[in-house]
Formats: sequence, C-alpha cells, structure tokens
Amino acid sequence: MKKQIIVITGGTTGIGFACAKYLLSLDYTVIITGRTKENLDTAVFKLGENCVGILSDTSSLSDIDELVLKIKSQFGKIDGLFINAGMFKASNFEETSEELFDETMNINFKGAFFTIQKFIPILKNPSSIVLNTSIVVFKSFANTSVYTASKSALESIAKVLNVELADRGIRVNIVSPGVTESPIQKKSGMSDEAINNLLDHFSSTSPIGRIVQPTDIAPIVEFLLSDKSQVLRNEKIIVDGGTTL
Ligand SMILES: NC(=O)c1ccc[n+]([C@@H]2O[C@H](COP(=O)([O-])OP(=O)(O)OC[C@H]3O[C@@H](n4cnc5c(N)ncnc54)[C@H](OP(=O)(O)O)[C@@H]3O)[C@@H](O)[C@H]2O)c1
Repeated sequence: MKKQIIVITGGTTGIGFACAKYLLSLDYTVIITGRTKENLDTAVFKLGENCVGILSDTSSLSDIDELVLKIKSQFGKIDGLFINAGMFKASNFEETSEELFDETMNINFKGAFFTIQKFIPILKNPSSIVLNTSIVVFKSFANTSVYTASKSALESIAKVLNVELADRGIRVNIVSPGVTESPIQKKSGMSDEAINNLLDHFSSTSPIGRIVQPTDIAPIVEFLLSDKSQVLRNEKIIVDGGTTL
C-alpha cells in the first residue's frame, strides 16, 4: 500500500511533534510546519528523513498559499490534515488587548479556517481533517476568554464542513486535549512556578494521577486521521485523563 501523506500544522514541538513522531513510526509520510526556523530545523533533525519541514506562518494567507503550492509540487495530493498550530496567552477579560485578540484569533481560528480552505484542492477523496481544539470549549477557565473564543469558533465549523465537503470525501473530526505538558505553557509567558502549580494541580486532581502528555494524544489523532475512523463525522474525542468529569 502507498504511504499515507499527512500534513501537521505546528508540528515542531509539543502535541504536533509527538503526533509527527508517532505517525512516522507507523510509516506515514509526514509534513510539518512551524513559524520559527530554529524549532523547525531541530524538529526535522529529530524526526528523520521521512519528515519534511516547511516554514509557514499559519496566520499569513500568503504563507498558506505558498505551503499548498510547495506540497502540491512535491507530493501531489495528501491523505490527511491535522490543524494543530496554535498559541495561548493568559489574560483576564478586562485586560485583553486588541493586539492579543487579533493574534489569538488570527492563529487559532482565521489561520485554521483558511488553511482548511486552501488545502481542499489537494486533499484526496477520501481524506480526513482533524482539528485540535481544547476542553476550554466546554469547561470555563479564568483568563482564557479570547483563547476559548478562538477554539470554540474552530470547533463550530466542523459540522458545517462535514456537510459542505461530504461530496469531496473529506471528513472532519476533533481532538479536544485537556491541560497537556508542552512548551505552550512557557511560551504563554507563565513563570516556572505558575507552570509547576498548574501541572501539579492537574496531576493531583486527575483520575489518571498524572498530567496528559503529547504522546497520549498522538494515537488518538492517528485514529482520527486513519481509515479506522472513516465513518466518524464531527466526532470529538476528549483527551484529558478524565479531569473534566
Ligand atoms: N498543551 C495544552 O495544554 C493544550 C490543551 C488543549 C489544546 N492545545 C492545543 O494544541 C495545539 C498544540 O499546542 P502544544 O501544547 O503542542 O503547544 P506548542 O508546543 O507550543 O506547539 C504549538 C505549535 O504551533 C506552532 N505555531 C504557533 N503559532 C504558529 C503560527 N503562527 N504559524 C505556524 N505554526 C505556529 C508552534 O511553532 P513555533 O514553535 O514555530 O511557534 C508549534 O509547532 C495548540 O493548538 C493548542 O491550543 C494544547
């Protein structure tokens, strides 16, 4: 069987990186993106020769156009797309600036929206799209209003796309991680002490007794990308170790 080709946006660290590693171990061909060259080079070096890295800022529509052109010329069509690139910065509602609002929405929602739109011509029939949202969509956390809005917006389009793209053989499902140990916490501007407190809290209150790791999410994403889940549409798999029960 021909190797399945999967694109992961934001595959340089954390969840995207773990998914790339897992898919490569199962003999998929994986293309990852990221916006920081150093992180991309490091990730591609670690992931090996079956992984292709392309520098692409998901919040830039011209970058997305270029990304699609590059992938089309090198690979033709692809089997799956994991919409994973994202960022989080904590801010209480009253202090959320227009700049943070735009940055968050541009990366987490607008970028995701137009990435999906622009990839449609190079998605095979059948193919699978997986959206990485978050438990914030259904459980409230203080200081996450704009992040929550961006992830809720992303989740909301899955059902529409499943109807509009059905005749092209494209299906869309959702992975909804709980708090997962990854570089996102440090990038968010949290202090080491605040990160440790957060991770300790979610470890001690979780039914699994530990924090969720990116490697816990990878097999779930592979399932949603693979033929094993071919009859699922708009399905959401919550990967939080039971913390929201
Ligand atoms: N960790 C959690 O607790 C958690 C929980 C629920 C959902 N999520 C979601 O999971 C996804 C991955 O997060 P993570 O925890 O794995 O964090 P992470 O390690 O910071 O990974 C984020 C990835 O997205 C990339 N990225 C960010 N902005 C980008 C942009 N404008 N263009 C292209 N790539 C961009 C990053 O690349 P650079 O290094 O180049 O910036 C990196 O590869 C995010 O969508 C996040 O919202 C995370």
